[in-house]
Amino acid sequence: MTYLTHIESRDGTRLDPGSPHSAPPAAGLRARYDLDRLRREVSTETITRGPATLWRYAALLPVAHPEQAITLDEGWTPLLSAPRIARALGMKQLLIKDEGRNPSGTFKDRGAAVAVSRYLELGVKTVAHNSSGNAGGSWSLYAARAGITCVNILPTDAQPASRQHCRASGQPTFLLDNWHDGGRLIAEACEQHGWLNICTLREPYRLEGKKTMGLEIAEQLGWRMPEAIVYPMGGGLGAIAIYKAFEELLQLGWIKGKPPRLYVTQYEGCSPLVKAWDEGRDECTPWGRIDIPPGGLKSPNPPGGRVVLELIRKHGGGAVSVTAEEALACVDELAREEGLFPCPESATTLAGVRKALARGWIATGEEVVLISTGSGLKSIPTLEAPRFPVITGSAELHA
Ligand SMILES: Cc1ncc(COP(=O)(O)O)c(C=O)c1O
Repeated sequence: MTYLTHIESRDGTRLDPGSPHSAPPAAGLRARYDLDRLRREVSTETITRGPATLWRYAALLPVAHPEQAITLDEGWTPLLSAPRIARALGMKQLLIKDEGRNPSGTFKDRGAAVAVSRYLELGVKTVAHNSSGNAGGSWSLYAARAGITCVNILPTDAQPASRQHCRASGQPTFLLDNWHDGGRLIAEACEQHGWLNICTLREPYRLEGKKTMGLEIAEQLGWRMPEAIVYPMGGGLGAIAIYKAFEELLQLGWIKGKPPRLYVTQYEGCSPLVKAWDEGRDECTPWGRIDIPPGGLKSPNPPGGRVVLELIRKHGGGAVSVTAEEALACVDELAREEGLFPCPESATTLAGVRKALARGWIATGEEVVLISTGSGLKSIPTLEAPRFPVITGSAELHA
């Protein structure tokens, strides 16, 4: 059962939800629901009794038959506290949404599960996108489960784990050296072959899947919002999705108050959003030479740049860049102090919170949620190689 009524574009045009739609991100295609009816028929208690997956929010998702969804039990990831790090930073508490628990190891599974399920209902046979890696791997696995095809273009340095997901699931995958060309190549191929272009923010349903991160954070906090969110930004889809969740929950009256301030982190070697924020612009200008570790933050011209800047202006917040060394040190800090093992992209949020505290953007008493978008297992080659002594007997064991 879905309460989906239509797809709406930024200029207010209503589109038929019974067909797939794909348009440049500026069109701002968003799924809209009959929230008045939903409020009458569904309650937070109904949600709470639902499955321990993102499908507990089926009423707020576009899939007509959630019981037939293409699912690997994604979502409902824990919101963990990081008490030692919080104490060291002088903070009352620090919360971490651990998205590394998802089936392919990142939050990309949320978008893939919901969108693949919906596109199967709409009869789509082939989808195509360029992905820095994690979405490619995730969509490949869900497409395989659905029996459809996902054409992937990944950068030549995409992490081996993502490349293996694409290979093992048998999905057509290509590597591209000049990453700035990826979006154009996919658009041309989709035009030529009639594939559905599912690149970041071109179609409305990936966002609906990722929206469940915001729904979960609110539910896990007892149906309320934190004071600040720190998000490692690539294209910006995840951040936009979290705020769409808060907006819908506010409209439903299931939560009250002010949405959190939004802080985004990027690597120094590709930080178009941070540059735009520092310069007071409304739009990102495309980043030139990309010099960052492989993985999710490789988005030189973020499709969601303008909307993320709007969110920061509307709700407060900021943007901060982090070096690769700082991020890698934060992976180790999270493992050493809290037993967590995030990917370096996720660890930029800890480096970011430290900078935000130093700048007085975040106060130590505030409730802050870091979005840990993926597992360190997706990024093994980027991490320092372990060098342990090889032993031959117990006599060589020295603590
Ligand atoms: C691990 C990880 N974190 C963060 C991001 C950035 O996500 P978004 O493009 O939604 O901003 C990505 C995107 O590829 C990712 O793979």
